Amino acid sequence: MKLFFAVCVVALLETVASQCTCQIIPKCFLMKAEMYRAKKNMSTRSIGGKPVETAFVDNDGIYDPECEGNGMFKAVQCNNTEVCWCVNSAGVRRSDKGDKNIKCEPVETIWVRLELKHKPLTTPLDATKLKTGIQNAMLERYNLDKSLVSEVQYDQDGRLIVVDVKKDEKDRVTDLSRATYYLEKDIKVLPLFLKNNPFEVSVEGNKVSMENVLVYYVDEKAPTFTMQRLTGGIIAVIVVVSLIVIAGLLILFFLARRQKAAYTKTQARELEPIS
Ligand SMILES: *[C@@H]1O[C@H](CO)[C@@H](O)[C@H](O)[C@H]1NC(C)=O
Ligand SMILES: *[C@@H]1O[C@H](CO)[C@@H](O)[C@H](O)[C@H]1NC(C)=O
Repeated sequence: MKLFFAVCVVALLETVASQCTCQIIPKCFLMKAEMYRAKKNMSTRSIGGKPVETAFVDNDGIYDPECEGNGMFKAVQCNNTEVCWCVNSAGVRRSDKGDKNIKCEPVETIWVRLELKHKPLTTPLDATKLKTGIQNAMLERYNLDKSLVSEVQYDQDGRLIVVDVKKDEKDRVTDLSRATYYLEKDIKVLPLFLKNNPFEVSVEGNKVSMENVLVYYVDEKAPTFTMQRLTGGIIAVIVVVSLIVIAGLLILFFLARRQKAAYTKTQARELEPIS
């Protein structure tokens, strides 16, 4: 028991000490961590990824949608089956799948993040000129207002361009999904236009073409996927409740056993004088 406590105290002190002295991690350790990630084929890039925790991607692919008269997605979609789900204004599933009675409200997509990877170039790109180039291309090709292209980040080593297309949360007129869907299809070489020219961005006379795209959606309300709601706090609560229940059951079990043992002892003593 004493040894156990000693080990615990040492471990605790070590944790505290490492927290105090290692706030600024030496570059050598950082590079080691980067190499570890690179070897394991994990991302070492600094930009991109989910813009916010509640962002999500479209893992379902295409389905046969039900549209309103004005071309908007109905909030409930069933793909001509008995299985239905809720979609956002971009038509992307934002709930678990359920039956035909599923209740959905209209939810607006207010932010779309495009992660583009450009094809190799001989000359490096200028990050600020890149934003103008993207704004021009999105306006010319998809008639997207330049002010909606709110931010463009660039990682030259990863050939990664992160484009944030955002609108005002109260804006119910602008439809971000139109331009971003065309762009996605154009880069994945499934052009929706009749003319078959690829999506290109012009930067200082350079034609930059893309080889890959990943799209994140952010809605005005967080999606209701079950797994996403089971984060941090809720998992902690589940663990604590389970531990209490298990402890309770163990106590009951041992109490019952002790009572039984006491009962058999008394019985044995009562029987003694007779024999
Ligand atoms: C890592 O990815 C590269 C190409 O992306 C591939 O050639 C290589 O085999 C991968 N390595 C591992 C360990 O998966
Ligand atoms: C919709 O139905 C089609 C054909 O029935 C199927 O190929 C597709 O995967 C379905 N999509 C979804 C999202 O369920």
